[in-house]
Amino acid sequence: MITPKDEKLTVEQRLLSYIEPFQEHGWITRVIAQVKSGKEATIFCCEAHPDSGHHLLAAKVYRPYDMRSFKNDAVYQRGRQRAGKADMRTLRALEGKSKGGRNAKFQQWVSHEAKTLKLLSRAGADVPQPIAQIGPAILMSYIGDEERPAPMLYGLLFDRHEAEILLDRLIHNVELFLRHHRIHADLSPYNILYWEDKPVIIDFPQAVDPRFNETAEQLLARDIRYIAEFVGEFGVEYDAERMTSDLWRRYRTARL
Ligand SMILES: Nc1ncnc2c1ncn2[C@@H]1O[C@H](COP(=O)(O)OP(=O)(O)OP(=O)(O)O)[C@@H](O)[C@H]1O
Ligand SMILES: [Mg+2]
Repeated sequence: MITPKDEKLTVEQRLLSYIEPFQEHGWITRVIAQVKSGKEATIFCCEAHPDSGHHLLAAKVYRPYDMRSFKNDAVYQRGRQRAGKADMRTLRALEGKSKGGRNAKFQQWVSHEAKTLKLLSRAGADVPQPIAQIGPAILMSYIGDEERPAPMLYGLLFDRHEAEILLDRLIHNVELFLRHHRIHADLSPYNILYWEDKPVIIDFPQAVDPRFNETAEQLLARDIRYIAEFVGEFGVEYDAERMTSDLWRRYRTARL
């Protein structure tokens, strides 16, 4: 039995060891393949247990702090402690630069993504459905099939009409996120998959709660600008600034 603490393991073996609990709990029967390795995490395609109601599941395994460098996430962390229910010991650890502090921050980053996926998936947003989170690994619905994972939006081509439909769907999601007090905050065409003619938005560890983050409006503006720039390539004109201020005004008014 492989244990995550065994230092002689290769990176791949160590990441796979974090998926084992999903198998032990009976959510998956085996790991089929490694799909992608991003800056922060590696994604594996897994065969789902027949009882799970899924055929395939994706396991996103974050590389623990000793296997990677942290991206500067200070801007996203602001207000998160107030929003969550972290206990005082965790809060003190988060403030420090100790190993325990980095570990607490890392765990918070992972569970923040799992919780956000749960909230938004329940709200009916176009995001993967999370099944479970154990340590640095999140098990969620797999977007794609046995042949291939869904491609990301970046690099795909659309005609103008398709791009307009895509734009409506993405803005609908941004609005839905906002209604649930969330801004993605890294909504680039790299973090949007496209499958069966629909977008699926992924990668939420940096998502912010606009009630507690003073840069929320700028983060929202950037998300909407990236969408506008993408559809702009296909001839769709879109006033991202106006949309941002409309959405933001409506959000603020609804809250007052
Ligand atoms: N649920 C999923 N189903 C299928 N493929 C997925 C799923 N989640 C992620 N992927 C694939 O894995 C890639 C990386 O995922 P994600 O963006 O969540 O991780 P990341 O480490 O933050 O990556 P990056 O640093 O490149 O943004 C995605 O671009 C996508 O190709
Ligand atoms: Mg990503």
